[in-house]
Amino acid sequence: MSQEIRADSREHSLIDTYQDWLDGQNLPTITGYGVPDLMSVPLKPWERKGGLGAFIRLIGAEGFNDAYLCEIPAGASLKPQKHLFDELIYILEGQGATRIWNEGFPVRTFEWQKGSLFSPPLNTWHQHFNGRGDKPVRYLGVTLAPVFLNLINDLGFIFNNDYVFKSRYSGEEHYFSGKTKLVGERTTETNLVPDVRAVQLKNSLKRGAGGSSMRFLMSGSLMSPHVSEFPVGTYKKAHRHVGGAHVIILSGKGYSLLWKEGGPRVRVDWRDGSLFVPPAWWFHQHFNTGAEPARYLALKAGDSKKFKGILQHAQTETSVKLGGDQIEYEDEDPEIRRLYREELAKSGAEWRMAQFFPDG
Ligand SMILES: [Fe+2]
Repeated sequence: MSQEIRADSREHSLIDTYQDWLDGQNLPTITGYGVPDLMSVPLKPWERKGGLGAFIRLIGAEGFNDAYLCEIPAGASLKPQKHLFDELIYILEGQGATRIWNEGFPVRTFEWQKGSLFSPPLNTWHQHFNGRGDKPVRYLGVTLAPVFLNLINDLGFIFNNDYVFKSRYSGEEHYFSGKTKLVGERTTETNLVPDVRAVQLKNSLKRGAGGSSMRFLMSGSLMSPHVSEFPVGTYKKAHRHVGGAHVIILSGKGYSLLWKEGGPRVRVDWRDGSLFVPPAWWFHQHFNTGAEPARYLALKAGDSKKFKGILQHAQTETSVKLGGDQIEYEDEDPEIRRLYREELAKSGAEWRMAQFFPDG
């Protein structure tokens, strides 16, 4: 993918500041629709961070956001960082702490572990520490670097900017305490989720299959992650929206179908630790073929329930027949259901979709 972007930029003689910056990091870049196992991706030393890393630029990110993997060796810490783009961090393995500060405000430190999710507030200094001397930490970062770098086209402004966004963070003592405030039916304001794998979810029945979800508003960011889960023997309704939703599988086993209206379907198989990104306005549909509920975390580009932002919001709970962006079960291609039954037969999991179809 990066090769294609590069070739395209040259063809039109356009400066791609983000790609130029990425090239300068000298890290491997993973492309395609998804990554089967984030834990087994080989990483290389990353001078800027002081640990190991690899970039992930999936087709569905559409140049809005990107992802990277970073490892903090046992007993080590990364170099302090500050940047004028939003970032979400999900801890894949290990435990440790992050120190956050701004000029003129107190230094705050909070701890995290496998399953933790947080967002260093925009342009704050932050430094990550591995809390153990015997195991590395591996985390996934999803950032808005592509859009910020290609809007500003000046790395000094992005990485060496003294402006303090007090509206986002002013050194508040309990900012990262993990306290939560329910601000919508399935939306929580919090700046640290200690373990997204254990978060209690609320029914999200309009999306089908007895599913449940919870969305987080974090650190005043446009990026608004959510956790979703659906039961054994079920699949969700197909829907579509803007690109950039990095879907990380937290538990379970199954597959997803991704397709542009009228086009061929791309199948992505997943399990705990897989990542994929549905391309912009492609329908996508998730199928659980495992023996446990499938839970995933979606780190998005800008689909906030608080800010209007710059991306078009989809109507993911409204049928396409009513002008929305969801395909109801009764309107889907029968092939979808046939394939799922075939996959269930292979895996031995029980069909539990009968309640959603009058004909069983
Ligand atoms: Fe989606």
